[in-house]
Amino acid sequence: MGTKDKIELDMENIPQHIAIIMDGNGRWAKKKRLMKKLGHKAGADVLEKITNVARDLGVMHITAYAFSTENWKRSEEEVAGIMDLLRHYLKDHIRNARKRSIKIDVIGDVTRLDEDIQQQILTLKELTKDKPGINLHIALNYGGRNELLRAIKKIAQKSNDGEIAPDDITEDYISSHLDTAGVPDPELLIRTSGEERISNFLLWQIAYSEFNFSDKLWPDYTGEDLKQAIWEYQNRDRRFGGRNS
Ligand code: IPE
Ligand code: IPE
Ligand code: MG
Repeated sequence: MGTKDKIELDMENIPQHIAIIMDGNGRWAKKKRLMKKLGHKAGADVLEKITNVARDLGVMHITAYAFSTENWKRSEEEVAGIMDLLRHYLKDHIRNARKRSIKIDVIGDVTRLDEDIQQQILTLKELTKDKPGINLHIALNYGGRNELLRAIKKIAQKSNDGEIAPDDITEDYISSHLDTAGVPDPELLIRTSGEERISNFLLWQIAYSEFNFSDKLWPDYTGEDLKQAIWEYQNRDRRFGGRNS
């Protein structure tokens, strides 16, 4: 049990929602002396595989950090490469939507993305909205602080318009104004590449998530690694501030 060869998971205790910070594409490409873009491409392929493994295990939601509000600081060439890759990824999913049982949507401030990408996102969301399978939420131009800021502005506007009073604002009310409205908080957050930080991901939602940091670079991450992370999650003592024994 719990060894790399044979991981026996408790199928009654599979996390409903797994958040993933897919980090290490750049280092992976560098190690292989490839262009960065190929690292990002390999990373996108791995997301595909991991989503399928998660779906087969019964996970309901994956939220994958693909591009942060801070990633605009990178070179124009790298950003353009990532956006091009995104176009291909979305196009491929739109073309094959009928065959796949994945519901896809995007979180983050999409208004800063190019018009054609915004259009592709809308099309894909509409095409997959009734799919029964796993929900893949791709975080694009996403930042936890930016998400909170946008939510607070929406709530302030409602208060200003007399729709709500300050006392109507509850934790659930705030959650329902985030990009993740309606999605349960992630029980498990995985970050690859050896970095042990949050980098502005899902700040509100991870209040009680279990963290799993992997040294693997994201393009090297496998379904077995995911199972191992879930196994470790299942062996944690989640207390939520109380006592279990
Ligand atoms: C994660 O990989 C993908 C994005 C942030 C877009 P990185 O590109 O950050 O990979 P490293 O950290 O440079 O290895
Ligand atoms: C976090 O990775 C963002 C994504 C994976 C999209 P970064 O590589 O941007 O994070 P830092 O800069 O190491 O904190
Ligand atoms: Mg990185």
